[in-house]
Amino acid sequence: MIILAVETSCDETSVAIVKDGKEVLSNVVLSQINIHQKYGGVVPEIASRYHIRHISLIFKEAIKEANISIGEIDLVAVTKGPGLIGALLVGINAATTFAFAHNIPLIGINHLAGHIYAGNIDSDLKFPLVALLVSGGHTELVYMSDHMEFKILGETLDDAVGEAYDKVARMMGLGYPGGPLIDKLAKEGKDTFNLTRPYLDKDDYKFSFSGIKSAVNNIIYHQERLKNDYSKADLAASFQEAVVDVLVYKLNLAVENFNPKQVLVVGGVAANSRLREVVLKTIKNREINIPDLKYCTDNAAMIGAAAYYAYLKRGEEKDYQLAGIPDLSLEEN
Ligand code: KG4
Ligand code: ZN
Repeated sequence: MIILAVETSCDETSVAIVKDGKEVLSNVVLSQINIHQKYGGVVPEIASRYHIRHISLIFKEAIKEANISIGEIDLVAVTKGPGLIGALLVGINAATTFAFAHNIPLIGINHLAGHIYAGNIDSDLKFPLVALLVSGGHTELVYMSDHMEFKILGETLDDAVGEAYDKVARMMGLGYPGGPLIDKLAKEGKDTFNLTRPYLDKDDYKFSFSGIKSAVNNIIYHQERLKNDYSKADLAASFQEAVVDVLVYKLNLAVENFNPKQVLVVGGVAANSRLREVVLKTIKNREINIPDLKYCTDNAAMIGAAAYYAYLKRGEEKDYQLAGIPDLSLEEN
């Protein structure tokens, strides 16, 4: 089954061609990072405009790169949420028009399910599994008993971990997006600031990152007021250690309580080198599945991977009136 998948939920315009939910024939990703950099974060209106400007070209490029004809496409899949509504609607409109014009079935896919199915491209999801889903908009621990069966064990009460990375990087004057910049700078520093580890001692799966963020803000404020020459690398390392400590502690707790066959770490923050290292070092006697970096951050191949299993479960859909749902939950797949 050849699936054309479309992803425009935030600041990446992406179209992929995926065969049988696994074989990525093409995965074209146009990032808008350099456009939003000067604002220190994604500006939704600008994101929508850039998606509109480039989406047709990205469709063309993905089909060309996959070396297929339009007649070979069996299914069109598009991210229906969660995400920025204006950005989602560009992908939905483009996918709907394309599917309708060529009389191809159309299926709406949950972006978070896409992140999870990134783990089924180069390896296989094995059930039951526990997934740590960490991105710019979400931080969730998820239990899956089978394909497309999602149960949220716990999530963040405030900021998503990627959002905290981006905000802390902005406070430190590092730029956008903050995750990769802090990841790099932290390698040159040490965990000297001993930041708070929220909810670390609690026997549940809730997260909170706004406290760590405020702690960093206070440190910067006081250091600058005292005109201290503090080490930004140490602050980056301290922030990263605190975050990774909490994420891995909670992941371990879920592993102990749910005894999964596989542990999956996905989403943009799964690209973090320290998180990858600590997960691999700490979680014993379980198969660990962390996708390749290019499938961690937003891309359409992961949407195509999820679409195959959504199709097997839901059957053929020609939902040419698909709506964008900005706050779609993983459980409302
Ligand atoms: O999954 P994603 O591409 O988009 C959302 O669905 O949100 O995740 C983007 C987030 C951003 O907050 C970015 O700073 C973070 O992932 N990120 C990282 C790294 N690479 C990207 N965070 C920490 N370390 C990284 N290496
Ligand atoms: Zn994402």
